[in-house]
Amino acid sequence: MNNDDRADIGLIGLGTMGANLALNIADNGYKVAVYNRTLETTRNFVADAGPLQDRLTGCESIGALIAAIKPPRAVILMVPAGPVVDDHIELLRPLMDEDDLIIDAGNANFNETNRRAAGNARFLGIGVSGGETGARYGPSIMGGGPRELWDSVSPILKAIAADYEGQPCATWMGEGGAGHAVKTVHNGIEYADMQMIAEAYGIMRDGMAMSPSEIANVFDGWNNGVLKSYLIEISAEVSKATDPKTGRPMLDVILDRAGQKGTGRWTAIEAQHLGVPVTVIEAAVAARNLSARLQTRQQGEDVFGAAPTRLAADALPISMLENALIAGKIMCYAQGFELLEGLSSANEWNLPMPAIAEVWRAGCIIRSTMLNDMASALAASPDSNLMFSDFFAARIRETQADLRRTVSLAAEHGLPTPALSSALAYFDILRTGRSTANMIQAQRDFFGAHSFERIDEPGAHHGPWGGDH
Ligand code: 6PG
Repeated sequence: MNNDDRADIGLIGLGTMGANLALNIADNGYKVAVYNRTLETTRNFVADAGPLQDRLTGCESIGALIAAIKPPRAVILMVPAGPVVDDHIELLRPLMDEDDLIIDAGNANFNETNRRAAGNARFLGIGVSGGETGARYGPSIMGGGPRELWDSVSPILKAIAADYEGQPCATWMGEGGAGHAVKTVHNGIEYADMQMIAEAYGIMRDGMAMSPSEIANVFDGWNNGVLKSYLIEISAEVSKATDPKTGRPMLDVILDRAGQKGTGRWTAIEAQHLGVPVTVIEAAVAARNLSARLQTRQQGEDVFGAAPTRLAADALPISMLENALIAGKIMCYAQGFELLEGLSSANEWNLPMPAIAEVWRAGCIIRSTMLNDMASALAASPDSNLMFSDFFAARIRETQADLRRTVSLAAEHGLPTPALSSALAYFDILRTGRSTANMIQAQRDFFGAHSFERIDEPGAHHGPWGGDH
């Protein structure tokens, strides 16, 4: 019987996510040693922990934290991504034994996690999704690093994770930065999901002159159907909210300038590096960048005048808008899983696609019922685009016309739908056997003699345009 009453695990960084993760671990019966650079934060955290206090050990130095954990030790870092993680590894390593483990659970760039893993034999990088509530009551956890190290801490991680029908949403994804890579793509999809919902909101607000409460009712209705998801659910909630200061609908007093910590941008950058088209995610990142240009948009409205956005009554039934979102969502996730395949090959990870869809079914920000169908489709047809699976091909046949009509109507009335339009263009390109890239090849050969292939014979060819231009 081990009568060592020291902590089972340590956690550094008591910001929103770290504090809630520590409480979650304690709430699941484990003893946690905690440290925060600001000592007062540590003291207040323990003091405010109520009945969980006896499972928390507040430490006033990193050395004290190490001493407070029973070996072999595991220390979770919940600190800002970037150099701060490296600083903490530098501080911890000399104080830790060879068989101790450092776990970076922040939103690290997976390339940095790959580097850290190469330099630290006992290092895990895990993606934790679910925001404040998820961290406290059950996040989705995507693990990366040596499998045996994951196995050594997975009992705690599975205990604190969300679960879907009894299956913990905590899964090992592969070596090195695999966990953080999956989390990054999760966030890219999150950006796209949120953008498409915002575009539907814009069509209802500006195109149909619907009030926030009417829009909330629509989202509530959609949350009983195929689009059932956390993001649709909270979109209904924020649409219902009233500003306590003015009594106006909360949405109407929020400035339309979106923030971004950068994980969606990383997704787009990695996709470009790999040549994987994630046009819906890229459109969502660009839309956030455009939202930040408030003055430019105001200047544009002054120069060109606002668009005549109002749609004719009943021009766009709500069911059509719902189908547009369903189609856009499928196309966006198809792109996300294509990127995961690309990352898996480029890093030799062998990422488990069905298990990724499964780990996202609960706890994380993009959790939804559709992910269960995606897990089945990915398992049934692992080597083809998600859109081509029997299940989702049928869904797209049912909904793509409504996506097209929605995008067309929005375009005719100056209602911006960059993400939904990108989804439609992706669909149309992906079902065009003879594209127009022959024109690109001809142009490239004309000005740069780059050569082109022919449809009737192999090899590299040049056009009859000569070289003197
Ligand atoms: C999650 C979220 C989280 C994300 C924040 C802010 O999975 O819990 O994705 O990790 O960092 O929601 O992200 P942005 O500032 O990039 O929108």
